[in-house]
Amino acid sequence: MIAVLFKKKETTIDRSKRILPQHIGIIMDGNGRWAKKRGLPRQAGHQAGASNFRKITRYCTTLGIKSLTVYAFSTENWKRPKEEIDALMDLFYDYLQDALVNFREENVRTTFIGDTSIFSEKIQALMQEAVDLSADKTGMRLNIAVNYGGRDEIVKAIKEISAEVAAGTLQESDITPELVSTHLYTAGQPDPDLIIRPSGEYRTSNFLLWQSAYAEYVFMDDILWPDFSTENLEEALDEYSRRNRRFGGV
Ligand code: FPP
Repeated sequence: MIAVLFKKKETTIDRSKRILPQHIGIIMDGNGRWAKKRGLPRQAGHQAGASNFRKITRYCTTLGIKSLTVYAFSTENWKRPKEEIDALMDLFYDYLQDALVNFREENVRTTFIGDTSIFSEKIQALMQEAVDLSADKTGMRLNIAVNYGGRDEIVKAIKEISAEVAAGTLQESDITPELVSTHLYTAGQPDPDLIIRPSGEYRTSNFLLWQSAYAEYVFMDDILWPDFSTENLEEALDEYSRRNRRFGGV
């Protein structure tokens, strides 16, 4: 993949006329480096990142974004030291408790994408409560990717589809990209239009592999996730509005 680097452009964009993405994905990267720069433990970076996640999520709702997917914990993040993983689990727990009390009134529908069966029963119960409580909200869809990996998700889809073929309920000729999409965690949701990754890393890290086939990437240098501001988001949206999306056409 060719990295499309984001450089702040001199040309001004009339923000009232921009075409906004329907679905934004964010790889919330750089928490550890943010903490290191301040001589703090990595956990402090995740704490600051979690607080910024709340801020940016709220801002997206004010912009009228229809779906936001954030990468909070990947299938590969289990390789991290136990104390960092424990701190992240505590942050998920705190966020869920807070969300259940304070976000009830917000018109946001929350979903968790990824294999959540690995989390503690306490966390799974809170996740389920957050999903159930927000199920009838009509505003922004918030997908929180936890124990999520794009490859795992595709393997899950392949297994489900092959089981149907083996059972004779599906013909091989019925297997289409659309059918595969219905077996992903994001079934029924539009693909991401824009994926933002701050922190200067130019890779997808197994995030929404299938769904991002035609996403526009904005990789932002010089900004780590805890410092990623609403203005940085606006700049990414400016950049998105400059892109000419052709979806393979001309
Ligand atoms: C990547 O930065 C970040 C993560 C693996 C964790 C992201 C989690 C949060 C922002 C907080 C929790 C979210 C919720 C939903 C409450 P990194 O640690 O890899 O940073 P580095 O590359 O600088 O080390």
